[in-house]
Amino acid sequence: MNKYEILEITPDELPKCSSFWNINDTRLIERKVFAYKIDDEYVGGCALFVRYEKCGHFSHFDVRSDLRGNGIGSRILEFAIQYFKDIGMEKMRLHVLKDNKSAIRLYKKYAFEYVEDITPEKIVMIKIL
Ligand SMILES: CC(C)(COP(=O)(O)OP(=O)(O)OC[C@H]1O[C@@H](n2cnc3c(N)ncnc32)[C@H](O)[C@@H]1OP(=O)(O)O)[C@@H](O)C(=O)NCCC(=O)NCCS
Repeated sequence: MNKYEILEITPDELPKCSSFWNINDTRLIERKVFAYKIDDEYVGGCALFVRYEKCGHFSHFDVRSDLRGNGIGSRILEFAIQYFKDIGMEKMRLHVLKDNKSAIRLYKKYAFEYVEDITPEKIVMIKIL
């Protein structure tokens, strides 16, 4: 795997992330956004915010479709876990579609647990940090 960096992205850099994000999603501007950069290209990322006291929220987790299954998502998730630990969060929370089996498998590998249904299609998962 080539050398990579995970960098914070400013709103004006979002167009460079259009291969994996809908860059018109306004939540990307409201949250702290990180992208995975390899060979001068942004190929994946996530958005983070403090949801309530001591609980970080993880969203917009995406890797460019042709690069999935190479460990990039796992590195982004590990980065986010460490980021929230470093700023003193005690929990990390996310939403995932019930039928997104591969993402749920990945979250379980990192000790996220089912908490509740948030809609008929979507669940909340939480990891204690
Ligand atoms: C979820 C996602 C970010 C994971 O990124 P990734 O770079 O594929 O993650 P990794 O390479 O670290 O793989 C993680 C696991 O998922 C599996 N996987 C997930 N999607 C895969 C795909 N399309 N191709 C191959 N493997 C895939 C891997 O085999 C691996 O499982 P393992 O650890 O048991 O071997 C990525 O699949 C993605 O962008 N999916 C579409 C968007 C999405 O569903 N986001 C999550 C919303 S909650």
